[in-house]
Amino acid sequence: KYVRSNCSSDVSSSVAFSHSPVLSVRRHLYDMDFPLYKQPVEVGYFSLDSSRRFFNDARMLRHYVEADRCPNFNLRDGYTDRFIKRDDGIKERLDHLLRWILENRSKLQRTPVDGDASGSSCRLSADFVTWRGHLTKLLTTPYETQEGWLLAVTLFNGTYYISEVETEAARRNRENRTERHAEMMYWGYKFEQYMCADEPSGLPDPSGVVNTNEAFCTVVQTKLTDHSLLFSGEVDCRDDSSRFKAAPSYYVELKTSAEICTPKQRSNLHRYKLLKWWAQSFLPGVPRIIAGFRDNDGLVVSLETFETAKISQLIKHEQNCWKPNVCMNLCNAFLSFVKKVVTQDDYRVVYLFSWEPYKDVSYSVHKDSEYTFLHDWYVREMTK
Ligand code: A3P
Ligand code: MG
Ligand code: MG
Repeated sequence: KYVRSNCSSDVSSSVAFSHSPVLSVRRHLYDMDFPLYKQPVEVGYFSLDSSRRFFNDARMLRHYVEADRCPNFNLRDGYTDRFIKRDDGIKERLDHLLRWILENRSKLQRTPVDGDASGSSCRLSADFVTWRGHLTKLLTTPYETQEGWLLAVTLFNGTYYISEVETEAARRNRENRTERHAEMMYWGYKFEQYMCADEPSGLPDPSGVVNTNEAFCTVVQTKLTDHSLLFSGEVDCRDDSSRFKAAPSYYVELKTSAEICTPKQRSNLHRYKLLKWWAQSFLPGVPRIIAGFRDNDGLVVSLETFETAKISQLIKHEQNCWKPNVCMNLCNAFLSFVKKVVTQDDYRVVYLFSWEPYKDVSYSVHKDSEYTFLHDWYVREMTK
């Protein structure tokens, strides 16, 4: 099946038209056995401080502190006088991850044993480099009915780099958030502050400032069938009392959600939220999600733990529910599609993959356009 893919006309250097194959995301095409997904291994981490400065260390990793089962956290506290919000108009693309790769590339280079016959010394030992969040979007695509996505892919030195481009609709939503929505986004971060300490045996400090510039990111390596992946994702905290003694198994994901009063609300949590929670944590191998259920005034009324590996069992009794195998098989198919389509190994070329609900994935090709995201500083260092 072929479509005529019309590239954005405002980019003069772009190829104007191309005959492009498309990828269908229809669920039934992906309802086969769960594909091979290797247990993710942490190969490193980095931190972003309160000014969004990069550090090649774990200084921003926080420590999980067990709370009362029925806590009385007030998520509205500190809004807006103790809140510093990251400027989400600034597009960082893969920048922090590229910096981490440069500073750690001795760990990542493909050795001759890996079969690199080209002799290229800086070839990475990964087919794909991306953010975990971009992969989460791929996993949830077969079930997404609201928001489309744009993923820019560049093949450089044998590795496919995937970086998201904000859609027009997402930009409009971001710029037109209601005051209520803006406050509710704060609640998620405030919950983290109630649940985490800065030091291993410390206590949470709810009187502090919530600063969403701060982040600790794990970098993991894994394989989905024959695709080797290197990706990074933000991690909320580490459980020092976990029976697991190594990352990423001792990491914990924190979530907030509206309190559940009816069977219908429980069912909706399973059908919609647990899909996103599962995809986000399963990808980097984070085994535990701790949810704080809050009322409409932002008071956390209960806590519940979800084991990532048990979520698929939990949702099985829901009718027409999402399926983890469909999510993973679609992701696998997309990565294969990328490998087939993206042939020019050139950091100045971006293949822009585009998807809208109820449509196929299509793409267009752009050289030296606004979409280029691999920097000269990265390319220069990596080709040394
Ligand atoms: P909750 O999802 O618990 O409400 P994360 O859970 O991924 O660590 O993100 C922390 C918080 O950031 C979220 O907390 C939410 O408040 C906010 N957030 C993350 N992704 C978001 C998105 N796509 N849209 C709106 N808010 C988001
Ligand atoms: Mg987080
Ligand atoms: Mg979280």
